[in-house]
Amino acid sequence: MRKRFFLPAAPAGAASPLPFAADAPWLAPLAGYSDLPFRLLCRHYGAAVCVTEMVSAKGLIYKSPGTGELLMSLPEDQPLVVQLFGAEPEVLAEAVLTLRRAGYAWFDCNMGCSVPKVMRQGSGAALLGDPERALACAQAMIGAAPGRVGFKLRLGLDRDRLVLPDLALRLEDAGAAWLTLHPRTARQGFGGSADWEAIARLAQRLSIPLLASGDLFSAEDGVRCLAETGATGLMYARGALHDPAVFAAHRALLRGEEPAQPEAASLRAMISLHVRLAREHGWGDGALWKMRSLVPRYVRFLPGVRVLRQRLCRCTDWQDLETALDEFLDGEGLS
Ligand SMILES: Cc1cc2nc3c(=O)[nH]c(=O)nc-3n(C[C@H](O)[C@H](O)[C@H](O)COP(=O)(O)O)c2cc1C
Repeated sequence: MRKRFFLPAAPAGAASPLPFAADAPWLAPLAGYSDLPFRLLCRHYGAAVCVTEMVSAKGLIYKSPGTGELLMSLPEDQPLVVQLFGAEPEVLAEAVLTLRRAGYAWFDCNMGCSVPKVMRQGSGAALLGDPERALACAQAMIGAAPGRVGFKLRLGLDRDRLVLPDLALRLEDAGAAWLTLHPRTARQGFGGSADWEAIARLAQRLSIPLLASGDLFSAEDGVRCLAETGATGLMYARGALHDPAVFAAHRALLRGEEPAQPEAASLRAMISLHVRLAREHGWGDGALWKMRSLVPRYVRFLPGVRVLRQRLCRCTDWQDLETALDEFLDGEGLS
């Protein structure tokens, strides 16, 4: 059957305010992963706000099949920020207006994706190489949703072409509601380490909230990053992919409690919950394929994980996947 474009209406409550605080950890945008089931899973563990996978502004206004699936949501999936990528101010503004008409309330503009497919279109981190265009895109989006748009930045294209703090300050002046900084250059991709000092320097200059991103692999990293940088809040990305319970651990650490040690029963409950959410709310065959790649991450430290991965690759339906998982988890003593 040919895929068709559809735009799901935002659920009720979409306009609830966004919390910006140390004890309100966000789920970062994760292309291919921060879908509705994963967002619900992270919210179960305490994610205060979730950001969708990046959505092409052009795909949205030209009704590209597959775009609407990225926007599937539910009332319990609030507050939700829709992340857009694009390079043309009028297209980004039209995308925001289209989403607002469908009831979505909060938007983020991707100015940090360094994947060649995105940068070749002039969007994502490519905008950092053309600050005037970046600013025009920002003004267009803000004009379409005043007070409701944030921007996710890297440091610049490379070390010789850093755009901070200038671009960040200009975005603030233009009316950005918040900024997120992943302090690496586009050229770095995910190499080297995130330069948290750059977050600290920017935090001192901004009056709007600043969210930290980068090398937040555990709740300990997150809490240390907040203390070292003075960022208003943060978003977990790879840390959440490896352990969606990172949000609960983050909140516990800030309350001065010892985060719960990972133990068999809670790991099994987490995996079962993700499988159930993916079965209920996942989209098509992709939901099963995604789960086949995600589960081995959750149990990566267990001895039989290689065999599990091979076994999951052969699973073609949910029942098969659940059987494989049960056998593995029972065998590893996770019952
Ligand atoms: C699989 C994957 C997909 C990502 N997709 C997006 C995306 O769609 N939009 C975006 O702004 N950043 C995206 N990022 C970047 C993350 O949001 C985050 O800024 C980055 O991973 C740094 O945080 P971390 O080191 O704590 O993982 C992605 C990262 C990963 C690993």
